[in-house]
Amino acid sequence: MKMSRGAFLLAVACLMSPTGEGLDNGLALKPTMGWLHWERFMCNTDCDTQPDNCISERLYMQMADVMVKEGWKDAGYEYVCIDDCWPSRQRDAQGRLQADPKRFPGGIKKLADYVHSKGLKLGIYADVGKNTCAGYPGSLGHYETDAQTFADWGVDLLKFDGCFMDWKLLGDGYTNMSKALNKTGRSILYSCEWPLYEWPFQKPNYTAIRETCNHWRNFDDVFDSWSSIKSILDWTASHQDTIVPSAGPGGWNDPDMLVIGNFGLSHAQQESQMALWAIMAAPLLMSNDLRDICPRSKKLLQNKLIIDISQDPLGKQGHLSAKLDSFEVWERPLSKRRLAVAVLNKQEIGGPRIFSIRFVPGWKICDPQCNVTQILPQYKEMGVQTLQSKVLLYIDPSGTALLTVTPLSSPLKNPHKLYWKHAV
Ligand code: GLA
Repeated sequence: MKMSRGAFLLAVACLMSPTGEGLDNGLALKPTMGWLHWERFMCNTDCDTQPDNCISERLYMQMADVMVKEGWKDAGYEYVCIDDCWPSRQRDAQGRLQADPKRFPGGIKKLADYVHSKGLKLGIYADVGKNTCAGYPGSLGHYETDAQTFADWGVDLLKFDGCFMDWKLLGDGYTNMSKALNKTGRSILYSCEWPLYEWPFQKPNYTAIRETCNHWRNFDDVFDSWSSIKSILDWTASHQDTIVPSAGPGGWNDPDMLVIGNFGLSHAQQESQMALWAIMAAPLLMSNDLRDICPRSKKLLQNKLIIDISQDPLGKQGHLSAKLDSFEVWERPLSKRRLAVAVLNKQEIGGPRIFSIRFVPGWKICDPQCNVTQILPQYKEMGVQTLQSKVLLYIDPSGTALLTVTPLSSPLKNPHKLYWKHAV
């Protein structure tokens, strides 16, 4: 049967798009970028002794100021997000959530106006159940009121946690809040933790999750440690057949915050988190103190080439493609038939080890030729390569080499010159 060009293009588009429809709110067409307070500032409500580090309107205003002044906004970081512990212990007389009056004297609306005046967006946090994880009032029984309150305040993102909820009601709860947000008419990006709370009981329905949320947490909270980053990567790799197909423009798997610039990761480990979060098409929500961050971490978080991989318009999540000799190879297909490759050295003893690029499964796109750019640990144009090239990568313990590979369809006139220049 002959197919019309239109039908053919539609078929190709269907084959290429993720399983199921995304949440149709026009948001998160690329992984969300911004800052979220939780990992770094947690539930510090003691503004008397720690005015600079407590959960207060000041913290978000200062973060917004720095984001504009220090190039974060220009690099693409857009959302300034409040996590748990912002509300008052009681709802107001009309049953609405209200911010803690001592720590947020101006209220959330004023804070949203301030953040918007800087050209940024404001995120807030609530919970599908009776209470938030830290024990503040939850939204159960108040979804429409809370969605409307957030919309009235001018909030742009809602992180909706899943504590204190009967797991059998998670699906209804998350779906009803999604509908309530939609009903407000305001564009509010919807960040869920539905699968994380459902996994202990049953395999989540990722088609339904993708229709409901703009991103969703699957696994444990990130900590400021390499063991935490490794556990997230291991979980992702061992569930990739289930979760990778559900990611795409409008809906993403969320492996939790970037902890780069804090206390627990070596620089090589920070590079690994940045590289792998870009490969996983993860939201890039930093949780650190942007007022006090070392220049090397800042440069890494603002690395344009890594951010370009994260935000690639093809919108496909990468996956673990090979494991050998304590190396992991992760690959992400990019637009224009390009490929991003991350090689992680998982051996935590000794010095830098050598990995030959020929072991990257996707290296086959180098037939007849490809162009290779190394982004981490150092930027290096590796030039034109072929299937036979002997490119070697030197990777520190718990560090990552990150590359992009661009296939070249016709061989260049004089490939040897370039080949010999760059082969090791
Ligand atoms: C849960 C979430 C975290 C954070 C805390 C706040 O643990 O997974 O990301 O929001 O609650 O209490």
